[in-house]
Amino acid sequence: MSLYYENGGIQIYHEDNLELLRRLKDKSVNLIYCDILYNTGKVFDDYNDNLGSPMQAIEWYRPRFEEMKRVLTDNGSIFIHCNWRLDSYIRILMDEVFGGKNYRNRIFRKHSQERGFYSNFDSQVDSIFYYVKDSGNFVFKEQIGSTPRIVPLFENGYMDGRSETRTFKDIQINLEEKNKHWLVSQKQFENMAKAGQVKIIDGLPYRFSCVIPIGNLWNEPEMLDNYTRTDVAEVYDTPKPEAILERIIKTCSNEGDVVADFFMGGGTTAVVAKKLKRNGIFCDISQKACCAAMLKLEAIE
Ligand SMILES: C[S@@+](CC[C@H](N)C(=O)[O-])C[C@H]1O[C@@H](n2cnc3c(N)ncnc32)[C@H](O)[C@@H]1O
Repeated sequence: MSLYYENGGIQIYHEDNLELLRRLKDKSVNLIYCDILYNTGKVFDDYNDNLGSPMQAIEWYRPRFEEMKRVLTDNGSIFIHCNWRLDSYIRILMDEVFGGKNYRNRIFRKHSQERGFYSNFDSQVDSIFYYVKDSGNFVFKEQIGSTPRIVPLFENGYMDGRSETRTFKDIQINLEEKNKHWLVSQKQFENMAKAGQVKIIDGLPYRFSCVIPIGNLWNEPEMLDNYTRTDVAEVYDTPKPEAILERIIKTCSNEGDVVADFFMGGGTTAVVAKKLKRNGIFCDISQKACCAAMLKLEAIE
């Protein structure tokens, strides 16, 4: 047992994450985000980013992902951040462990501007795989802005099974006649209609609301890596931007929930969880990382 730090619902453990995961109770974590080892082959002072061949790396991850599934609550979600070195292998492993039907999305996060590579297309995005424990029951809270927007609930082209007539009270829409198909299910359509958000224009359905539409390309400036060290606590080299964690934690958890990051690094997830009034379990094998995270947490009012 190696609890390194505990304060106000946030715990940091300094040990191998598999050891910690094995001790955690079933269904005790609502949301997991892990920025895992990318298998760069580099050996750092405090950890080894060389897991061998991709297949060897996957076998290293397998028991960890199985434990992560076990500790997730029934309505829990998991986000695994990786890059081109392992992404295809991680996707297949996650399908095996979490079930293909529980795959929600792959987020492409732009990490840098073009860096002048000369013999290849520069790699500017990494991947965040998003799965839920149960695709019939999970937390997803749309983010609300101040500007009303109108977005179509259809796309061009007839599609078998997605162009049929949908009805709700006095609303009846047949997209087949207009050679279009639905972008939302009957249930989602009903929920929007119940909330008074559906507008019919020229016989076509639109959603009129203040919901901020968010796609799976996260390329806003605040999502880019920023490794400028401005803070004495920033002893960790490659922190992820807080904006990534803010979006994930706000959307997929509630206040008071337990958020976990088992590859914590300098503590970006822990810091954002604390700012957003979540509890948390965090783990890193490196003492330097644990210390950096603790200092950052202590600096938050
Ligand atoms: C890519 S970094 C995470 C960076 C983090 N997202 C941030 O914003 O600072 C991966 C971290 O995993 C840790 N790590 C490596 N192997 C581990 C293991 N077996 N158990 C726990 N942590 C481990 C490393 O020490 C490193 O700090």
